[in-house]
Amino acid sequence: MTAVVHLIAAARPNFMKVAPVYHRLARADWCRPVLIHTGQHYDPEMSDVFLRDLGLPAPDINLEVGSGSHAEQTAGVLVAYERVCRDAPPDHVVVVGDVNSTIACALAAKKLWLPVGHLEAGLRSWDRRMPEEINRVLTDALSDLLWTPSPDADGNLRREGVEDRRIRRVGNIMIDAFELLRPRIAAEAAAAGLGLPEAGYGVVTLHRPSNVDTPEALSGLVDRLLGAGRRLPLVFPVHPRTRQRLQQFGLLEKLAASGDVRLSEPLGYVRFMSLVQSSRLVITDSGGVQGETTYLRIPCLTLRENTEQPITLSEGSNRLVPPETLEAAVEETLAGPARIGRVPDLWDGRTAERVVEDLRGILA
Ligand code: UD1
Ligand code: UDP
Repeated sequence: MTAVVHLIAAARPNFMKVAPVYHRLARADWCRPVLIHTGQHYDPEMSDVFLRDLGLPAPDINLEVGSGSHAEQTAGVLVAYERVCRDAPPDHVVVVGDVNSTIACALAAKKLWLPVGHLEAGLRSWDRRMPEEINRVLTDALSDLLWTPSPDADGNLRREGVEDRRIRRVGNIMIDAFELLRPRIAAEAAAAGLGLPEAGYGVVTLHRPSNVDTPEALSGLVDRLLGAGRRLPLVFPVHPRTRQRLQQFGLLEKLAASGDVRLSEPLGYVRFMSLVQSSRLVITDSGGVQGETTYLRIPCLTLRENTEQPITLSEGSNRLVPPETLEAAVEETLAGPARIGRVPDLWDGRTAERVVEDLRGILA
């Protein structure tokens, strides 16, 4: 009998986490992967481009839940996914990351007694003002298998009383996505395409509510970015939440008028990673980008008070930067030598292999 495994994708960073596992499962004779898209992200540049870049097929099922308040979005996925699982229960569910769809699908599945594995388990920022922290804690509490990226994650789970048999350290799945596409990323030359000097520019991404949802926080950051841009040309693919807020707070024109900070639409994965790979530094509040820059040993200035990936600080190239010190941090990095750290253990492009081996042990 062929086992059916649901892989849940919902928002931009999920596609990179699902794709390496999907491709491995698709080659196995004991399993049929079913790609479920909850529709949390739906703009072509937040969704379709990633399916294309990562060689994923059109989702088998799209729940088309879309945007809404936390309760609306989470409840929408919960109801829609429960229906899918009732109609045709899978043998296993794999959820990834920490978005609203992650906890919603884990909850729907567990109430139906379906086995759930959480990929990228155990990360904690210890900041419950972050919606993702709540999603992480609840998803880990529910999931049967907890696939972790780093020893800190194992320790967090043990402290929360999780039995050792549920914890499997498999490494960082984002690295698998990068390795899968390394040749295409290398061939892309996105910086040259945008007229940016090789290794003479920085990349910016911002979308955390704590940074972009109030006029005070966002206008302060806009000023700091303009200051940083005078020291190093910056390219800033703007997340839809952030674009909306820039418009709402009347900040978009000010930022767009500067020749030092070049704004663009959100970029596809291959183009974006090509830009990051040949950049001098990255300024971000993204979870995924902190890990990717550690892997590529590119200095990362993270505009947050905390991180759920402390290993990128202790071993990698990441550093937490209060907004008011951004320009100084950029100058310091440019003056060098920048701390580029080392690549953590098991961030080796073989994470999906470990996850699939685990699933084979249960399902084959
Ligand atoms: C979500 C995740 C966050 C993740 C991020 C990745 C939660 C709570 N948040 O944040 O953890 O880091 O995705 O990018 O799950 N919008 C569009 N087009 C889209 C999608 C969203 O215009 O395709 C706009 C909508 O106005 C929406 C807003 O962006 O209300 C926010 O989208 P949402 O999915 O709720 O949260 P993100 O900020 O994207
Ligand atoms: N990313 C991308 N294009 C962009 C910005 C980000 O392909 O314009 C990729 C990035 O490489 C990383 C992932 O999207 O793999 C991170 O997504 P995001 O920052 O939206 O979410 P987070 O990781 O913070 O949850």
